[in-house]
Amino acid sequence: MKVGIDQLSFYTPRYFLPLEVLARQRGVDYAKFAVGLGQEQMGVTPPDEDIVTLAANAAEPLVRDGGAGIDLLLFATESGIDQSKAAGLFVHGLMGLPAECRVAEIKEACYGGTVALQMAAAMVMRRPASRALVIASDIARYDLASPGEPTQGCGAVAMLVTANPRILALDPEVGLHAEDVMDFWRPNYRDEALVDGKYSTRLYLGTVEKAFARYAQASGRSIDDLARCCYHLPFTNIARKAHERLLKLRGRAEIGPGEVDAAVVEALGYNRRTGNSYCASLYQSLACLLDQCEDDLSERRVGLFSYGSGSMGEFFSGVVQPEYRQHLLREQHKRMLAERSELTYQEYEDMFQMKVPQDGWDYVFAQYRTGPFRFGGITGHKRRYERAA
Ligand code: COA
Repeated sequence: MKVGIDQLSFYTPRYFLPLEVLARQRGVDYAKFAVGLGQEQMGVTPPDEDIVTLAANAAEPLVRDGGAGIDLLLFATESGIDQSKAAGLFVHGLMGLPAECRVAEIKEACYGGTVALQMAAAMVMRRPASRALVIASDIARYDLASPGEPTQGCGAVAMLVTANPRILALDPEVGLHAEDVMDFWRPNYRDEALVDGKYSTRLYLGTVEKAFARYAQASGRSIDDLARCCYHLPFTNIARKAHERLLKLRGRAEIGPGEVDAAVVEALGYNRRTGNSYCASLYQSLACLLDQCEDDLSERRVGLFSYGSGSMGEFFSGVVQPEYRQHLLREQHKRMLAERSELTYQEYEDMFQMKVPQDGWDYVFAQYRTGPFRFGGITGHKRRYERAA
């Protein structure tokens, strides 16, 4: 039986900062961001969006039918808003999902979405009539003027996981690599992540080789069996570096001209414009590939590499389903990116500094541009979410 992604929706906030503006402000050559990192813009959350509203806004197009049959909701995030309650329960309420539903939050840095996807696929395999909603939602924040700043971003991806999926059927073979390392972490007392970026990049590239080698052994496939590859994208150029590593593993000396870009470039466009969305980043890249690839990918196999600092790596694959194009939200994604408002540097810094108050008082938040759901304020230490006016 085939199990995998039946529907795929991505959401990013209505505001962005051009990195040209950030480069000017920081006195850096813009080519470092645009060419060196492969980033052009950074998505910015207004004060009335958080991981819950990003998630609900991504999920809304998938559950307009009331979510009938959804009996699992897994919410993957690194940017948790509560030490106890799963963010998925807020989404469950906003979406009006059935009470007979298993809801939980999953964490392993940027890898959490893949754990959620694989667990959901296993559950559907066991009970083929069930449907699972998997959401990956994150806001990437580093210190102002730190090396990580130009890679910041935000976004959420929602996926319906079902039997006989209409978009991508997952292959059973995977390659895993786990290792206890400190390359990126965020202690409970900090809003901004701490990262040893160069070390993290080295670990990522070592992990992709190890995970791919195990995937290749388990599946009997080589890199040449994959029509395209999508990678976790802390910055988009890492996909080129990772893919080059995997091509070199083939043992042939030369890599053909344009061979790396041919496999990865169609999957980078969204992330270049939103920045890193941690758990959502790989799946945003998959959405971009499927939405924008001019070749028909029906019945073709796509490789996916998920990396979470700390660290976990997983290489896996799936086969794109016939007629997949009829089920994409391509136009909606295009419109959402086109209609965002551009921020000045000062507006970006003001939004960055406006943190959720921690003093225990009640607050009503001003309304900014958001999707259908917004974070309305805090009453009695409880976050209030509502439909945007
Ligand atoms: N024109 C074109 N390219 C330029 C340039 C210019 N003027 N100036 C620098 N570059 C290139 C560098 O050569 C480098 O490319 P390379 O890695 O292919 O050699 C790239 O731009 C980045 O420059 P670098 O000096 O390494 O950047 P940095 O010290 O500011 O740090 C990161 C880059 C990725 C380490 C940093 O952004 C970071 O910490 N990011 C957050 C964490 C992260 O992304 N982790 C990755 C694993 S999950």
